[in-house]
Amino acid sequence: MSQIKTVGILTSGGDAPGMNAAIRAVTRSAIYSGLKVKGIYRGYRGLITDEIVDFKTQNVSNIIQMGGTILKTARCKEFETPEGRQLAYDTLKQHEIDSLVVIGGDGSLTGARIFASEFNFPIIGLPGTIDNDLFGTDKTIGYDTALNTIMECVDKIRDTATSHERLFFIEVMGRDAGFLALNGAIASGAEAAIIPEISTQVDQLAELIQNGFRKSKNSSIVLVAESPVTGGAMGLAERVKNEYPGYDVRVSILGHLQRGGSPTAADRILASRLGSAAIDALLEDQRNVMIGIRNDEIVYVPFSKAIKNDKQIKPELIDTLRRLSI
Ligand code: F6P
Repeated sequence: MSQIKTVGILTSGGDAPGMNAAIRAVTRSAIYSGLKVKGIYRGYRGLITDEIVDFKTQNVSNIIQMGGTILKTARCKEFETPEGRQLAYDTLKQHEIDSLVVIGGDGSLTGARIFASEFNFPIIGLPGTIDNDLFGTDKTIGYDTALNTIMECVDKIRDTATSHERLFFIEVMGRDAGFLALNGAIASGAEAAIIPEISTQVDQLAELIQNGFRKSKNSSIVLVAESPVTGGAMGLAERVKNEYPGYDVRVSILGHLQRGGSPTAADRILASRLGSAAIDALLEDQRNVMIGIRNDEIVYVPFSKAIKNDKQIKPELIDTLRRLSI
């Protein structure tokens, strides 16, 4: 029998659509299993500044459809110090919280891993980031919604790109991972995606121009993953102006609109399954694992693997985009 009685829940790092559905699932599954739940506001910062409230089932009513996170979120520098983590531990003890569910991306799970090993504290992580860059899970919470947002934006930009016969570089988020750019390009029928994963191997821009990608088309759309490695949309547009002045080039940086909006059904279901599984994992005395989903099955991924191993882009996807953009 597990000794766990009270679960604290927090969201940390960049928000992602579906985080609320995850908060709801963790809260309700915990209460269903006879546990108490405490909501911690503003991520790890709320542990240091003691922003903690009791959560009942009603606290999570009517939130499954909402973007953002009702618990707020933060990137907390103080938690990166031993002193900050000691304060956080003291707060947990005061509130009699004996386990944590942390919803966030790799930075948040890195913090969880350090804290869990320092204080021998049970923590379960949920992959909450639009970037989809956590190893061991096929999808992260928020990724599908962000992908759909990107697709809708590109559809709109295509109207003006076609009318003016322009080349557009559209920069999407991903923090050094190309999942949003590559799958966003496939979903929106873009000509190419410039992603960090292959930027060091080939000059993707030169390849694009040399392949004569624009010859038979009156406009072109290229999705660019934000990253110093790709040069970003601005950097690529600058290169085109200097190296290939024949093109009428424009840039659009989608930015934070990719993080907002009501989560898709896929994200709500993913968050609900992962949130529910987080409580099962705690009750099974699992600790320091991220709950993921692989081939439609729930899996437990040790924090060290989820964070450190690079999630690979499937070459098949790169090939698909190439074939379909001729
Ligand atoms: O990790 C999620 C993410 O949206 C990245 O794609 C992006 O690089 C970063 O967060 C932006 O962070 P901030 O909102 O702190 O500027």
